[in-house]
Amino acid sequence: MEDAVIVIEDLHKSFGDVKVLDGVNLTVIRHKTTVILGRSGCGKTVLIKHIVGLLKPDKGRILYEGRDVVNMPTHERKEMLKEFGMLYQSGALFDSMTVEENIAFPLVEHTKMTKAEIKERVQEILHRLGLKDVEGKYPAELSGGMKKRVALARAVALEPKVIIFDEPTTGLDPVMCDIIDNLIIKTRDELGITCIVITHDIQSTFKIADKIAMLYGGRIIEEGTPDEFRNTSNEVVLQFLHRKAEGPIKIMD
Ligand SMILES: Nc1ncnc2c1ncn2[C@@H]1O[C@H](COP(=O)(O)OP(=O)(O)OP(=O)(O)O)[C@@H](O)[C@H]1O
Ligand SMILES: [Mg+2]
Repeated sequence: MEDAVIVIEDLHKSFGDVKVLDGVNLTVIRHKTTVILGRSGCGKTVLIKHIVGLLKPDKGRILYEGRDVVNMPTHERKEMLKEFGMLYQSGALFDSMTVEENIAFPLVEHTKMTKAEIKERVQEILHRLGLKDVEGKYPAELSGGMKKRVALARAVALEPKVIIFDEPTTGLDPVMCDIIDNLIIKTRDELGITCIVITHDIQSTFKIADKIAMLYGGRIIEEGTPDEFRNTSNEVVLQFLHRKAEGPIKIMD
C-alpha cells in the first residue's frame, strides 16, 4: 500500500449550473511529485483550492494525514496550513515588500525565530535557489522567472510537508522552465517535501513527475506513472500529450 498524504474521494463542485468537479478521486503519495494535468479552465485550480480549504465541496471527502479537511475546525485548519506551501498561479508576492521581506513574512508570522535567525534562514534559502543580490529588490524590479523563484523561496521558508505549485512554468522561457523544474526536483529530493504540481507543460511533466493524473470532464480520467502515461491508449490523454487540435477533446465542452 502506498503511503498517502492526501486522499480525495468523489469530490463534486459546481458554480451555479456549471459543474466543474464531477467525482474526482486522487491520492497524493508522500515524498513524491504528483502532477495534475488538464486543459485551461478544466478545474485544476478549483481542485487544489479544496485541498487547502479555500473552497468547500458540494459533495466528497478530502483527507490530509487521515484528517477530514472539509469539516475541520478553523483553528485546526490554520495549524494544518502551516504544513502547506503554496505557489500561486499569479505569483502573489507582496508588491510593497522587498524580496527579503517577502520570504521572511511567513517566518515572522508563524514562528518565534529572532530577526537574526530569520535573516540567516532567508540568506540560506536564496542561496539554495541560486538567487543572488536580490534581497533588497521589489517584485516589480524582477523578471517573471525570478518572481517565481522568490515565490518558491517563500513557499519553502517554513519547511512545509507539502507544496502545491500552480502552473510554475507557465509564461517562462524554456531555460527558466528547466531551472524551475530542477528546483521542484530538489525540493522533493533534498527537503523530502511532497509536491503537487499543476501544469499543462508536457515536457516538464515527464521530467518531474512520479505520478501523473489527468483531469478532464470533472474527473481524473487517467492516473499513473510517466511510463504508464507514455503507453496510454486513452484518446483524450493522447490528444493532450501530442498537442493535437483534432481528437475527442471538444473546444466547446
Ligand atoms: N469562485 C468561482 N466562482 C465561479 N466560477 C469559478 C470560480 N472559480 C473557478 N470558477 C470556474 O471554474 C472553472 C475552472 O476554473 P479553474 O480556475 O479551476 O481552471 P484551471 O484548470 O485552473 O485553468 P487554467 O489552466 O487556465 O488556470 C472555470 O470555468 C472557472 O470560470
Ligand atoms: Mg488554474
